[in-house]
Amino acid sequence: MSTTETTETTWAPERLLTSPAACLALRELGRHLAGAGFINRFGRLQIDDEKNEPLADLALGKYIDVAVASRFLGGPQATAALLETKAATITEESRFSLSFEVLSDGTAMAILPFLDSADDVPIDSVYAGTDTWLLRDQAWKYGLHGKRAIDLGTGTGLVAAFLTSRYETVVATDINQRATQTAQLSRELLHETAKSRMHVVTNDVAAGLHPGTFDFVCVNAPWVPAHRADGRIYSQGGETGFELPRRFILEGTELLAPNGIFIALCAELSFTDGSNPLRELLDDLEQNGFATSIEPTHAPHPFHAAADGTAETLPGLETARHVTAVVKRNP
Ligand SMILES: C[S@@+](CC[C@H](N)C(=O)[O-])C[C@H]1O[C@@H](n2cnc3c(N)ncnc32)[C@H](O)[C@@H]1O
Repeated sequence: MSTTETTETTWAPERLLTSPAACLALRELGRHLAGAGFINRFGRLQIDDEKNEPLADLALGKYIDVAVASRFLGGPQATAALLETKAATITEESRFSLSFEVLSDGTAMAILPFLDSADDVPIDSVYAGTDTWLLRDQAWKYGLHGKRAIDLGTGTGLVAAFLTSRYETVVATDINQRATQTAQLSRELLHETAKSRMHVVTNDVAAGLHPGTFDFVCVNAPWVPAHRADGRIYSQGGETGFELPRRFILEGTELLAPNGIFIALCAELSFTDGSNPLRELLDDLEQNGFATSIEPTHAPHPFHAAADGTAETLPGLETARHVTAVVKRNP
């Protein structure tokens, strides 16, 4: 297959949002994928029927015939709108591909824009990783009761989209406008009820949100220390990596209604001087009307890139592990 591209691949989510034909294409794509039982958890691909393989290829960002793509996207006008907004590319041989991948757990879906280059990751790129699925699974486990949920630092919006199957109102927030624009596009993939439940907001942690009003709050907090994060918004957690998770935990738990549950994926660090900032923060919350616990995850060690353990990544660091911090507001 030749992939001689005739258009650029620069991703511009804000241009799609202002194109009704491009939004229609996303709605049609979401409808076809839901009908075909499409599940894509990073390589764990599933689809109900082999005849839907071209549809799965389209959703994975592979090249397929433009006429076939057009069938799944609501017609030539919608396909043209995607090309015009740089959300798709076409070759001289009429092979068409999307500039993004669709993530799906079979119910919730989200758009993950492809990077122009894996070597040059922009600081405002939109993140999804294996921990996204971990957050989704923890949300499945802990997000059981109530009407209102919020996904802080939503990225693609996948977990917020998932929460619409459990909650009447779901807010998805992020400080990165590129992420909130992408989450808005992800919303277009959902069926009408889910779409009407999901609201996307650009803000800093919990700024502007009413305290005490959410039954479930979740976050996959950035935890990488500044000197290792290259300024990337999705990973940089502050100087030691805990400054931003601390804010998410403090401000996120303030959002909880009585009996509400907060979960944060983050790193638990302990230092040779005996300090453990996450544990100490949760102990403080225990004194102020919350019940807390720390559940280790099966995700890789946060500082696994260090050659031998954790000592060289932060001064005085003794141990580090990836955990889910769970906080419940007492009745
Ligand atoms: C590790 S990513 C997780 C994204 C998504 N929740 C997921 O699990 O795929 C962290 C997210 O937090 C967002 N973020 C970083 N700083 C933030 C802040 N001060 N306020 C709100 N969101 C922030 C980033 O833009 C990014 O989308």
